[in-house]
Amino acid sequence: MIFRSLLFVPGDSERKLVKGALSGADALVLDLEDAVDIARLPLARQMVHDYLLNRDQGTQEVWVRVNPLDSGLALDDLAAVVRGRPDGILLPKGSGAQDIQLLDHYLGALEVRDGIAPGSVAIMPVATETPAALFSLGNYKNCSTRLKALTWGAEDLAAAIGASTNRLANGEYEFTYQLARSLCLLGARAAGLPAIDTIWGNFKDTTGLQNDATLARKAGFSGKIAIHPDQVPIINQAFTPDEAELQHARQIVQAFENAQGAGTVQLNGEMLDRPHLKQAQQILAMQHRS
Ligand code: COA
Ligand code: MG
Repeated sequence: MIFRSLLFVPGDSERKLVKGALSGADALVLDLEDAVDIARLPLARQMVHDYLLNRDQGTQEVWVRVNPLDSGLALDDLAAVVRGRPDGILLPKGSGAQDIQLLDHYLGALEVRDGIAPGSVAIMPVATETPAALFSLGNYKNCSTRLKALTWGAEDLAAAIGASTNRLANGEYEFTYQLARSLCLLGARAAGLPAIDTIWGNFKDTTGLQNDATLARKAGFSGKIAIHPDQVPIINQAFTPDEAELQHARQIVQAFENAQGAGTVQLNGEMLDRPHLKQAQQILAMQHRS
C-alpha cells in the first residue's frame, strides 16, 4: 500500500494506542523516540511489542519509530519490537543509504532470531534530520529492498544546524527547509519510491493542514504524516483525487486512446503530450488507495 496518512502515536500511551487503531490512518507509527521520555523507554518498548502482537490484522500497517542508530538505544529498541512483527521501522536522524544498509542487516538478523520471513520488515528514513543527510538524498536507489518511502522533517534539522527558527516571518519554511523538502521529494522519486510529507504541527488549524496537504500532493508527495487523529481524515481526503480530477484524467486517457499512435492530442483546446498522459494515469491509480 502507498500510504496517504501515517499517524504518530507515542509508544507509551495506552489511550492513544487505542485511539490510533480507530483513526482511519493507513499506517500508525508507534514512537519510541522523541515522544517518549527516556525514563519510560523500557515500558514503551514493552507496550509497543504487546500492541504489535495483539493488533487486528486489518489493512492498517503498524510501524515503529526507533531511536537513531548512533544513540546507543536503537539495537535494544529493535530487539524488543521486531518479535512483534511490525510492518516497518521509521528511522530518524539517518545520514543516508549506508544507515539503511546497516538497519537492513540488523533486521535480517532479528528476523532469523524470530522466525520471520527474511526482508518482511520495511524501512523508511526521516531523510533530512541532519545536515549531512541532505548531501546523501540522491543515493537511496537500490540500497535495500526494504526501503519503502522517504519522509522529511524540519525540527531536528533546525536544532542540528543551530537555527533558532526554521520559519520566515510569514510562517513559511525558510529556504534551507524548503530545500530539504524538495530534495526529499526528488531523492525518493529518483529511487523510484513514494515521498511522504512532514507534519503539520498545529493540529487545531485544520484549514492550514488542508492547504498544506493539497499543495504537497500537487508537488508530488504521496502522503503526509499526522500527529493527531483529527488530522487523518483531512490528509486522507487531500491525497485522494476528487471526482472532477478523476473525470479530467479519464478524458485525457480517452483522448489518447481515441488518437491511437499519436504522441500529442488536444482536449478542449489544450495541447497534451506524453507527460500529461502519465500524470492522468497516476491520478487514476490513486483512486484505489484506501
Ligand atoms: N494518536 C492517537 N490518539 C491521539 C493522538 C495521537 N497522536 N493525539 C491525541 N490523541 C487522542 C487523545 O488521547 C484524546 O483521546 P482521550 O480523550 O481518549 O485521551 C483525543 O485524541 C483528543 O486529544 P486532544 O485532547 O486533542 O490532544 P492531547 O492533548 O491529548 O494530545 C498531543 C496532543 C500533541 C500531545 C498528541 O496529539 C500527541 O501525542 N501527538 C503525537 C506526538 C508525537 O508522536 N510526536 C512525535 C512525532 S513528531
Ligand atoms: Mg524528532
